[in-house]
Formats: sequence, C-alpha cells, structure tokens
Amino acid sequence: MIVTLKILLLNLLFCFGRLSIACAADDDCSLNGVCSANSTCTCDTGWRAADCSELDLQPVERWTGYNHTNATGVDFYKEGAGNSSWGGHIIQDPQDKTLFHLITSQMSHGCGLSGWKPFSTIIRAESRSGPRGPYTWAQDLFGPFHHNPTTMWSPADGLYLLYFIGQDMETPNGTCKSSKFNNTISVTSSPDLRSWTKPQALLYNVTNPAPFPLWSPESETSEILLAVEKNNIYYADQYTVPYDLIVEPHNSDRSEDPFLWRDKRGNWHFLVHYMVDIDLGLKGPRVGAHCFARDWRGPWTFNNRTLAYNTTVKFTDVGQTVYYRRERPKLFFSDDGEMTPLYLVNGVQEFNATGGGSYTLIQPVGDKWKAYEEGLGF
Ligand SMILES: *[C@@H]1O[C@H](CO)[C@@H](O)[C@H](O)[C@H]1NC(C)=O
Ligand SMILES: *[C@@H]1O[C@H](CO)[C@@H](O)[C@H](O)[C@H]1NC(C)=O
Ligand SMILES: *[C@@H]1O[C@H](CO)[C@@H](O)[C@H](O)[C@H]1NC(C)=O
Ligand SMILES: *[C@@H]1O[C@H](CO)[C@@H](O)[C@H](O)[C@H]1NC(C)=O
Ligand SMILES: *[C@@H]1O[C@H](CO)[C@@H](O)[C@H](O)[C@H]1NC(C)=O
Ligand SMILES: *[C@@H]1O[C@H](CO)[C@@H](O)[C@H](O)[C@H]1NC(C)=O
Ligand SMILES: *[C@@H]1O[C@H](CO)[C@@H](O)[C@H](O)[C@H]1NC(C)=O
Ligand SMILES: *[C@@H]1O[C@H](CO)[C@@H](O)[C@H](O)[C@H]1NC(C)=O
Ligand SMILES: *[C@@H]1O[C@H](CO)[C@@H](O)[C@H](O)[C@H]1NC(C)=O
Ligand SMILES: *[C@@H]1O[C@H](CO)[C@@H](O)[C@H](O)[C@H]1NC(C)=O
Repeated sequence: MIVTLKILLLNLLFCFGRLSIACAADDDCSLNGVCSANSTCTCDTGWRAADCSELDLQPVERWTGYNHTNATGVDFYKEGAGNSSWGGHIIQDPQDKTLFHLITSQMSHGCGLSGWKPFSTIIRAESRSGPRGPYTWAQDLFGPFHHNPTTMWSPADGLYLLYFIGQDMETPNGTCKSSKFNNTISVTSSPDLRSWTKPQALLYNVTNPAPFPLWSPESETSEILLAVEKNNIYYADQYTVPYDLIVEPHNSDRSEDPFLWRDKRGNWHFLVHYMVDIDLGLKGPRVGAHCFARDWRGPWTFNNRTLAYNTTVKFTDVGQTVYYRRERPKLFFSDDGEMTPLYLVNGVQEFNATGGGSYTLIQPVGDKWKAYEEGLGF
C-alpha cells in the first residue's frame, strides 16, 4: 500500500514537473514535434525530451562508420593517425540502392586532424553493408588542400552538388606541419558522385558551407540556400550564380559547423557544433546544439539551455566512449517525405588519440532506421 502511494506521489510529481514546462505552441517543442491539446509535446520520430530538443540517439555498433585510424601507408609521415577523417555526408547510390557512399575529409600522408591545413583531401568511400557502414576508401576526389565537404542532391539541376573549402596546394615534404591561410568556399557538380566538374569559387574568407535547395514538388525552383559559419545564410537563384548574404542571426553563440534542413512541415533547423565549454578550456562535453525557425529568414531560436547531443556515445558491445571532440554534425533523413532523421554523422577524436587520429562516427537515431535497413535487405 505504501509502495503504491509512493508511486502515485512520484507520478503526481512527474506530472507536475511536466506541467511546469507545458507547451503553448509548436515552438515550445523545438519545431521537432507538435504541441498537443493537453499542452505536452508529441515529438517526431528521432527526437525526445519534454521539449523535443534532444536527438533520440541509439547505441553504435563498433567498427561501423569510417574508421581507418589503424591504416598504414608507405607515404605516411607519422605513425598512429592512419587515414584520419572528419565527418561527411552519407548518400544512397541513385541507381544501385544497396550501395552507400560517404564523402568525407581525409588527411593525407598519415597526418592527424591537427595537420588538416593543408593535408586534408576529399575522398569517396563505399559501403555494401548498409548506410552505417563500415565504409572503405574508394576514390580520391580532391587532393590537398580540400576540406569540409557537404554533398547534396539538387533536384532542379539533376546533379549532386559538392561544396567545400580550399584549393590545390603544395604540402610540406616529410612533416605534418599545419599552416594558416584563408578559406574559400567552392562548388562542383556530378551526375554520379564519381566524376566532378572543375570547382567554381563562390565566397572568400568564409567557411563551413551547408547548402539546402529550396526545391519542393510544389515549387520546382533552382533557388538554393547556403548556410555558413556563424549560422549566416546566403541565397542564390541557382547554385552557380552570386550568393547574397540574407540572414545574420545576432545569436550564433559560440557555434560553428551548421547543418541546415527544412522539415516536413516547412520549418527550418540547424544542428551546430556548440563550443560553449571553450570558456573552461575544454572541447566538450557540451557539443551539439539545435536552432529552429518557421521561416529561413528568421527569427531563429538558438537553444542554449539543453543539448541535442553530447560527447558520450553508447556502443552495442561494451559501455560507452566519451570523446574528446565531436563536431561536424550531419543528418541522413528518410526518403519517404517525412524527413525523419535516421543517422547522425560526426567527426570524432578520442582522448589522447594516437598520432592525433580522428574518424567518422555514424550513430542511429530513433527507431525508423531499422525498417529502412531491413527494407533494403540488410
Ligand atoms: C497528451 O496527448 C498526446 C497526444 O494526444 C498523448 O500521446 C499523450 O499521452 C498525452 N499526455 C498526457 C500526459 O496526457
Ligand atoms: C576506431 O579505431 C581505433 C583504432 O583502430 C580503435 O581503437 C577504436 O576503438 C575504433 N572506434 C570505433 C568506434 O570503432
Ligand atoms: C583495423 O581497422 C579495421 C576496421 O577499419 C578492423 O577491421 C581491423 O581489425 C583493424 N586492425 C587492427 C590490427 O586493429
Ligand atoms: C587510405 O587512403 C588511401 C588514399 O589516400 C587509400 O589508397 C588507401 O587504400 C586507404 N587505406 C585504408 C585502409 O583505408
Ligand atoms: C622529400 O624528401 C625526401 C627525403 O627527405 C626526398 O628524397 C624527396 O625528393 C623530397 N620530395 C620532394 C617533392 O621534395
Ligand atoms: C586572403 O585572401 C585575400 C583575397 O581574398 C588575399 O588578398 C590575402 O592575401 C589572403 N591572405 C592570406 C593569408 O592568404
Ligand atoms: C580575406 O581576408 C584577408 C585577411 O585575412 C583580407 O586581406 C582580404 O581582403 C579578404 N578578402 C576578401 C575577398 O574579403
Ligand atoms: C543563451 O542565449 C541568451 C539569448 O541570447 C543569452 O542571454 C544567454 O546568456 C545565453 N545563455 C548561455 C548559457 O549562454
Ligand atoms: C549526455 O547525454 C546523455 C543522453 O541524454 C545523458 O544521459 C548524459 O548524462 C549526458 N552526459 C553529459 C556529460 O552531459
Ligand atoms: C590523457 O592523457 C593525460 C596525460 O597523459 C592523462 O592525464 C589523462 O587521464 C588521459 N585522458 C584519458 C581520457 O585517457
């Protein structure tokens, strides 16, 4: 009886707690769900927490993603970092539905993440075992220095667009020494992800490109948005013409690496690398923040109260890993029109990583990813 009363009391407290953060509008549900008639949020698949602000991350299977920090090579300048990589986009092959591509940054000559300038290259990796990988190297796309690739299908152009920073550059001989220079955002296109056109420079002294085409079945436009550092948004009539800076949110709050998308209701979102722990001289654990807006022109709400994700990753085998760095967030969405997040991709680096090695982690989100993989026969 006492136990029952205790449970009742706990339930009441829980309800009271819930009521104290009741929603009045979908904005109170981070636009990742709807505010139901009883004033609580009903979150879309892939999001959780009372305000739907947290990604519903699931345990990761070890040796999935793109992790070749144990690779060796005759042209390597140092041991231990292998083929270090740093996040990227998962793309399902348009013809061959059980082939998945990962276009990612990879440091050449065995250099770790700290040698990214100028050793970073852009490569294409392939997986025949599903969207989570493991991926294996398939093709070098752009040599040093090319970095920060974001790959997007443009329905209006019938082409893949690849935005990145960098330009061809000589690398120092024999050392992974890094250097400082300007960032330039360029774009290149491809019908098949394998052959790419000569890059066209778009923006100087700007980094972290994140395109999103405005095309929809109702409005087959070639207009495109390009989000960049500080969560600024440029607009272009089509991907090759000049880009105009339209949105400059005042509160970008120590964030970088924006990932921009429009959801099924037409609302807009950013996942960003949140660098709030820099004040404490740390790279984490608070690394994943979410911003949202009903219109891409704003106003934008930057959620700096709760996190979308942090540096702790649970694995399906034993325990968990707390990463030193977890950056470059990108989501892979369902293709059923629901824009359900199925996987989160990040560049990660472990504490005291050998040789400063880094890799690309792919973490399942929510529960729809299982049916997606089963539907493809994995
Ligand atoms: C509120 O309504 C939603 C949707 O109708 C329902 O799923 C949820 O269980 C309700 N919550 C409470 C606390 O009654
Ligand atoms: C990545 O590779 C490194 C080196 O081989 C290994 O220590 C680490 O456990 C791997 N991580 C995952 C998540 O597979
Ligand atoms: C190196 O990494 C691969 C996965 O990329 C793994 O299958 C293999 O066992 C690793 N080799 C060693 C020696 O750790
Ligand atoms: C490492 O990357 C190089 C391309 O720079 C590739 O030739 C090699 O096969 C890769 N090795 C592994 C184990 O991924
Ligand atoms: C790089 O250095 C090695 C030995 O230090 C030398 O044999 C080689 O010719 C150099 N390569 C270039 C491109 O300078
Ligand atoms: C940066 O780029 C500008 C041109 O946009 C150039 O004038 C300047 O020299 C560059 N600085 C460095 C350090 O490369
Ligand atoms: C880029 O920044 C450099 C300073 O690093 C400046 O000299 C140059 O004018 C800038 N270029 C453009 C196109 O804004
Ligand atoms: C969160 O953002 C608000 C609005 O810009 C700001 O006033 C507040 O100081 C921020 N809080 C933290 C913890 O950064
Ligand atoms: C990271 O997020 C998980 C899941 O929400 C949570 O259980 C954990 O306490 C968080 N860790 C830190 C250090 O905030
Ligand atoms: C990393 O190395 C430092 C110094 O060697 C040590 O104090 C620290 O505990 C290590 N951190 C982890 C997570 O292993």
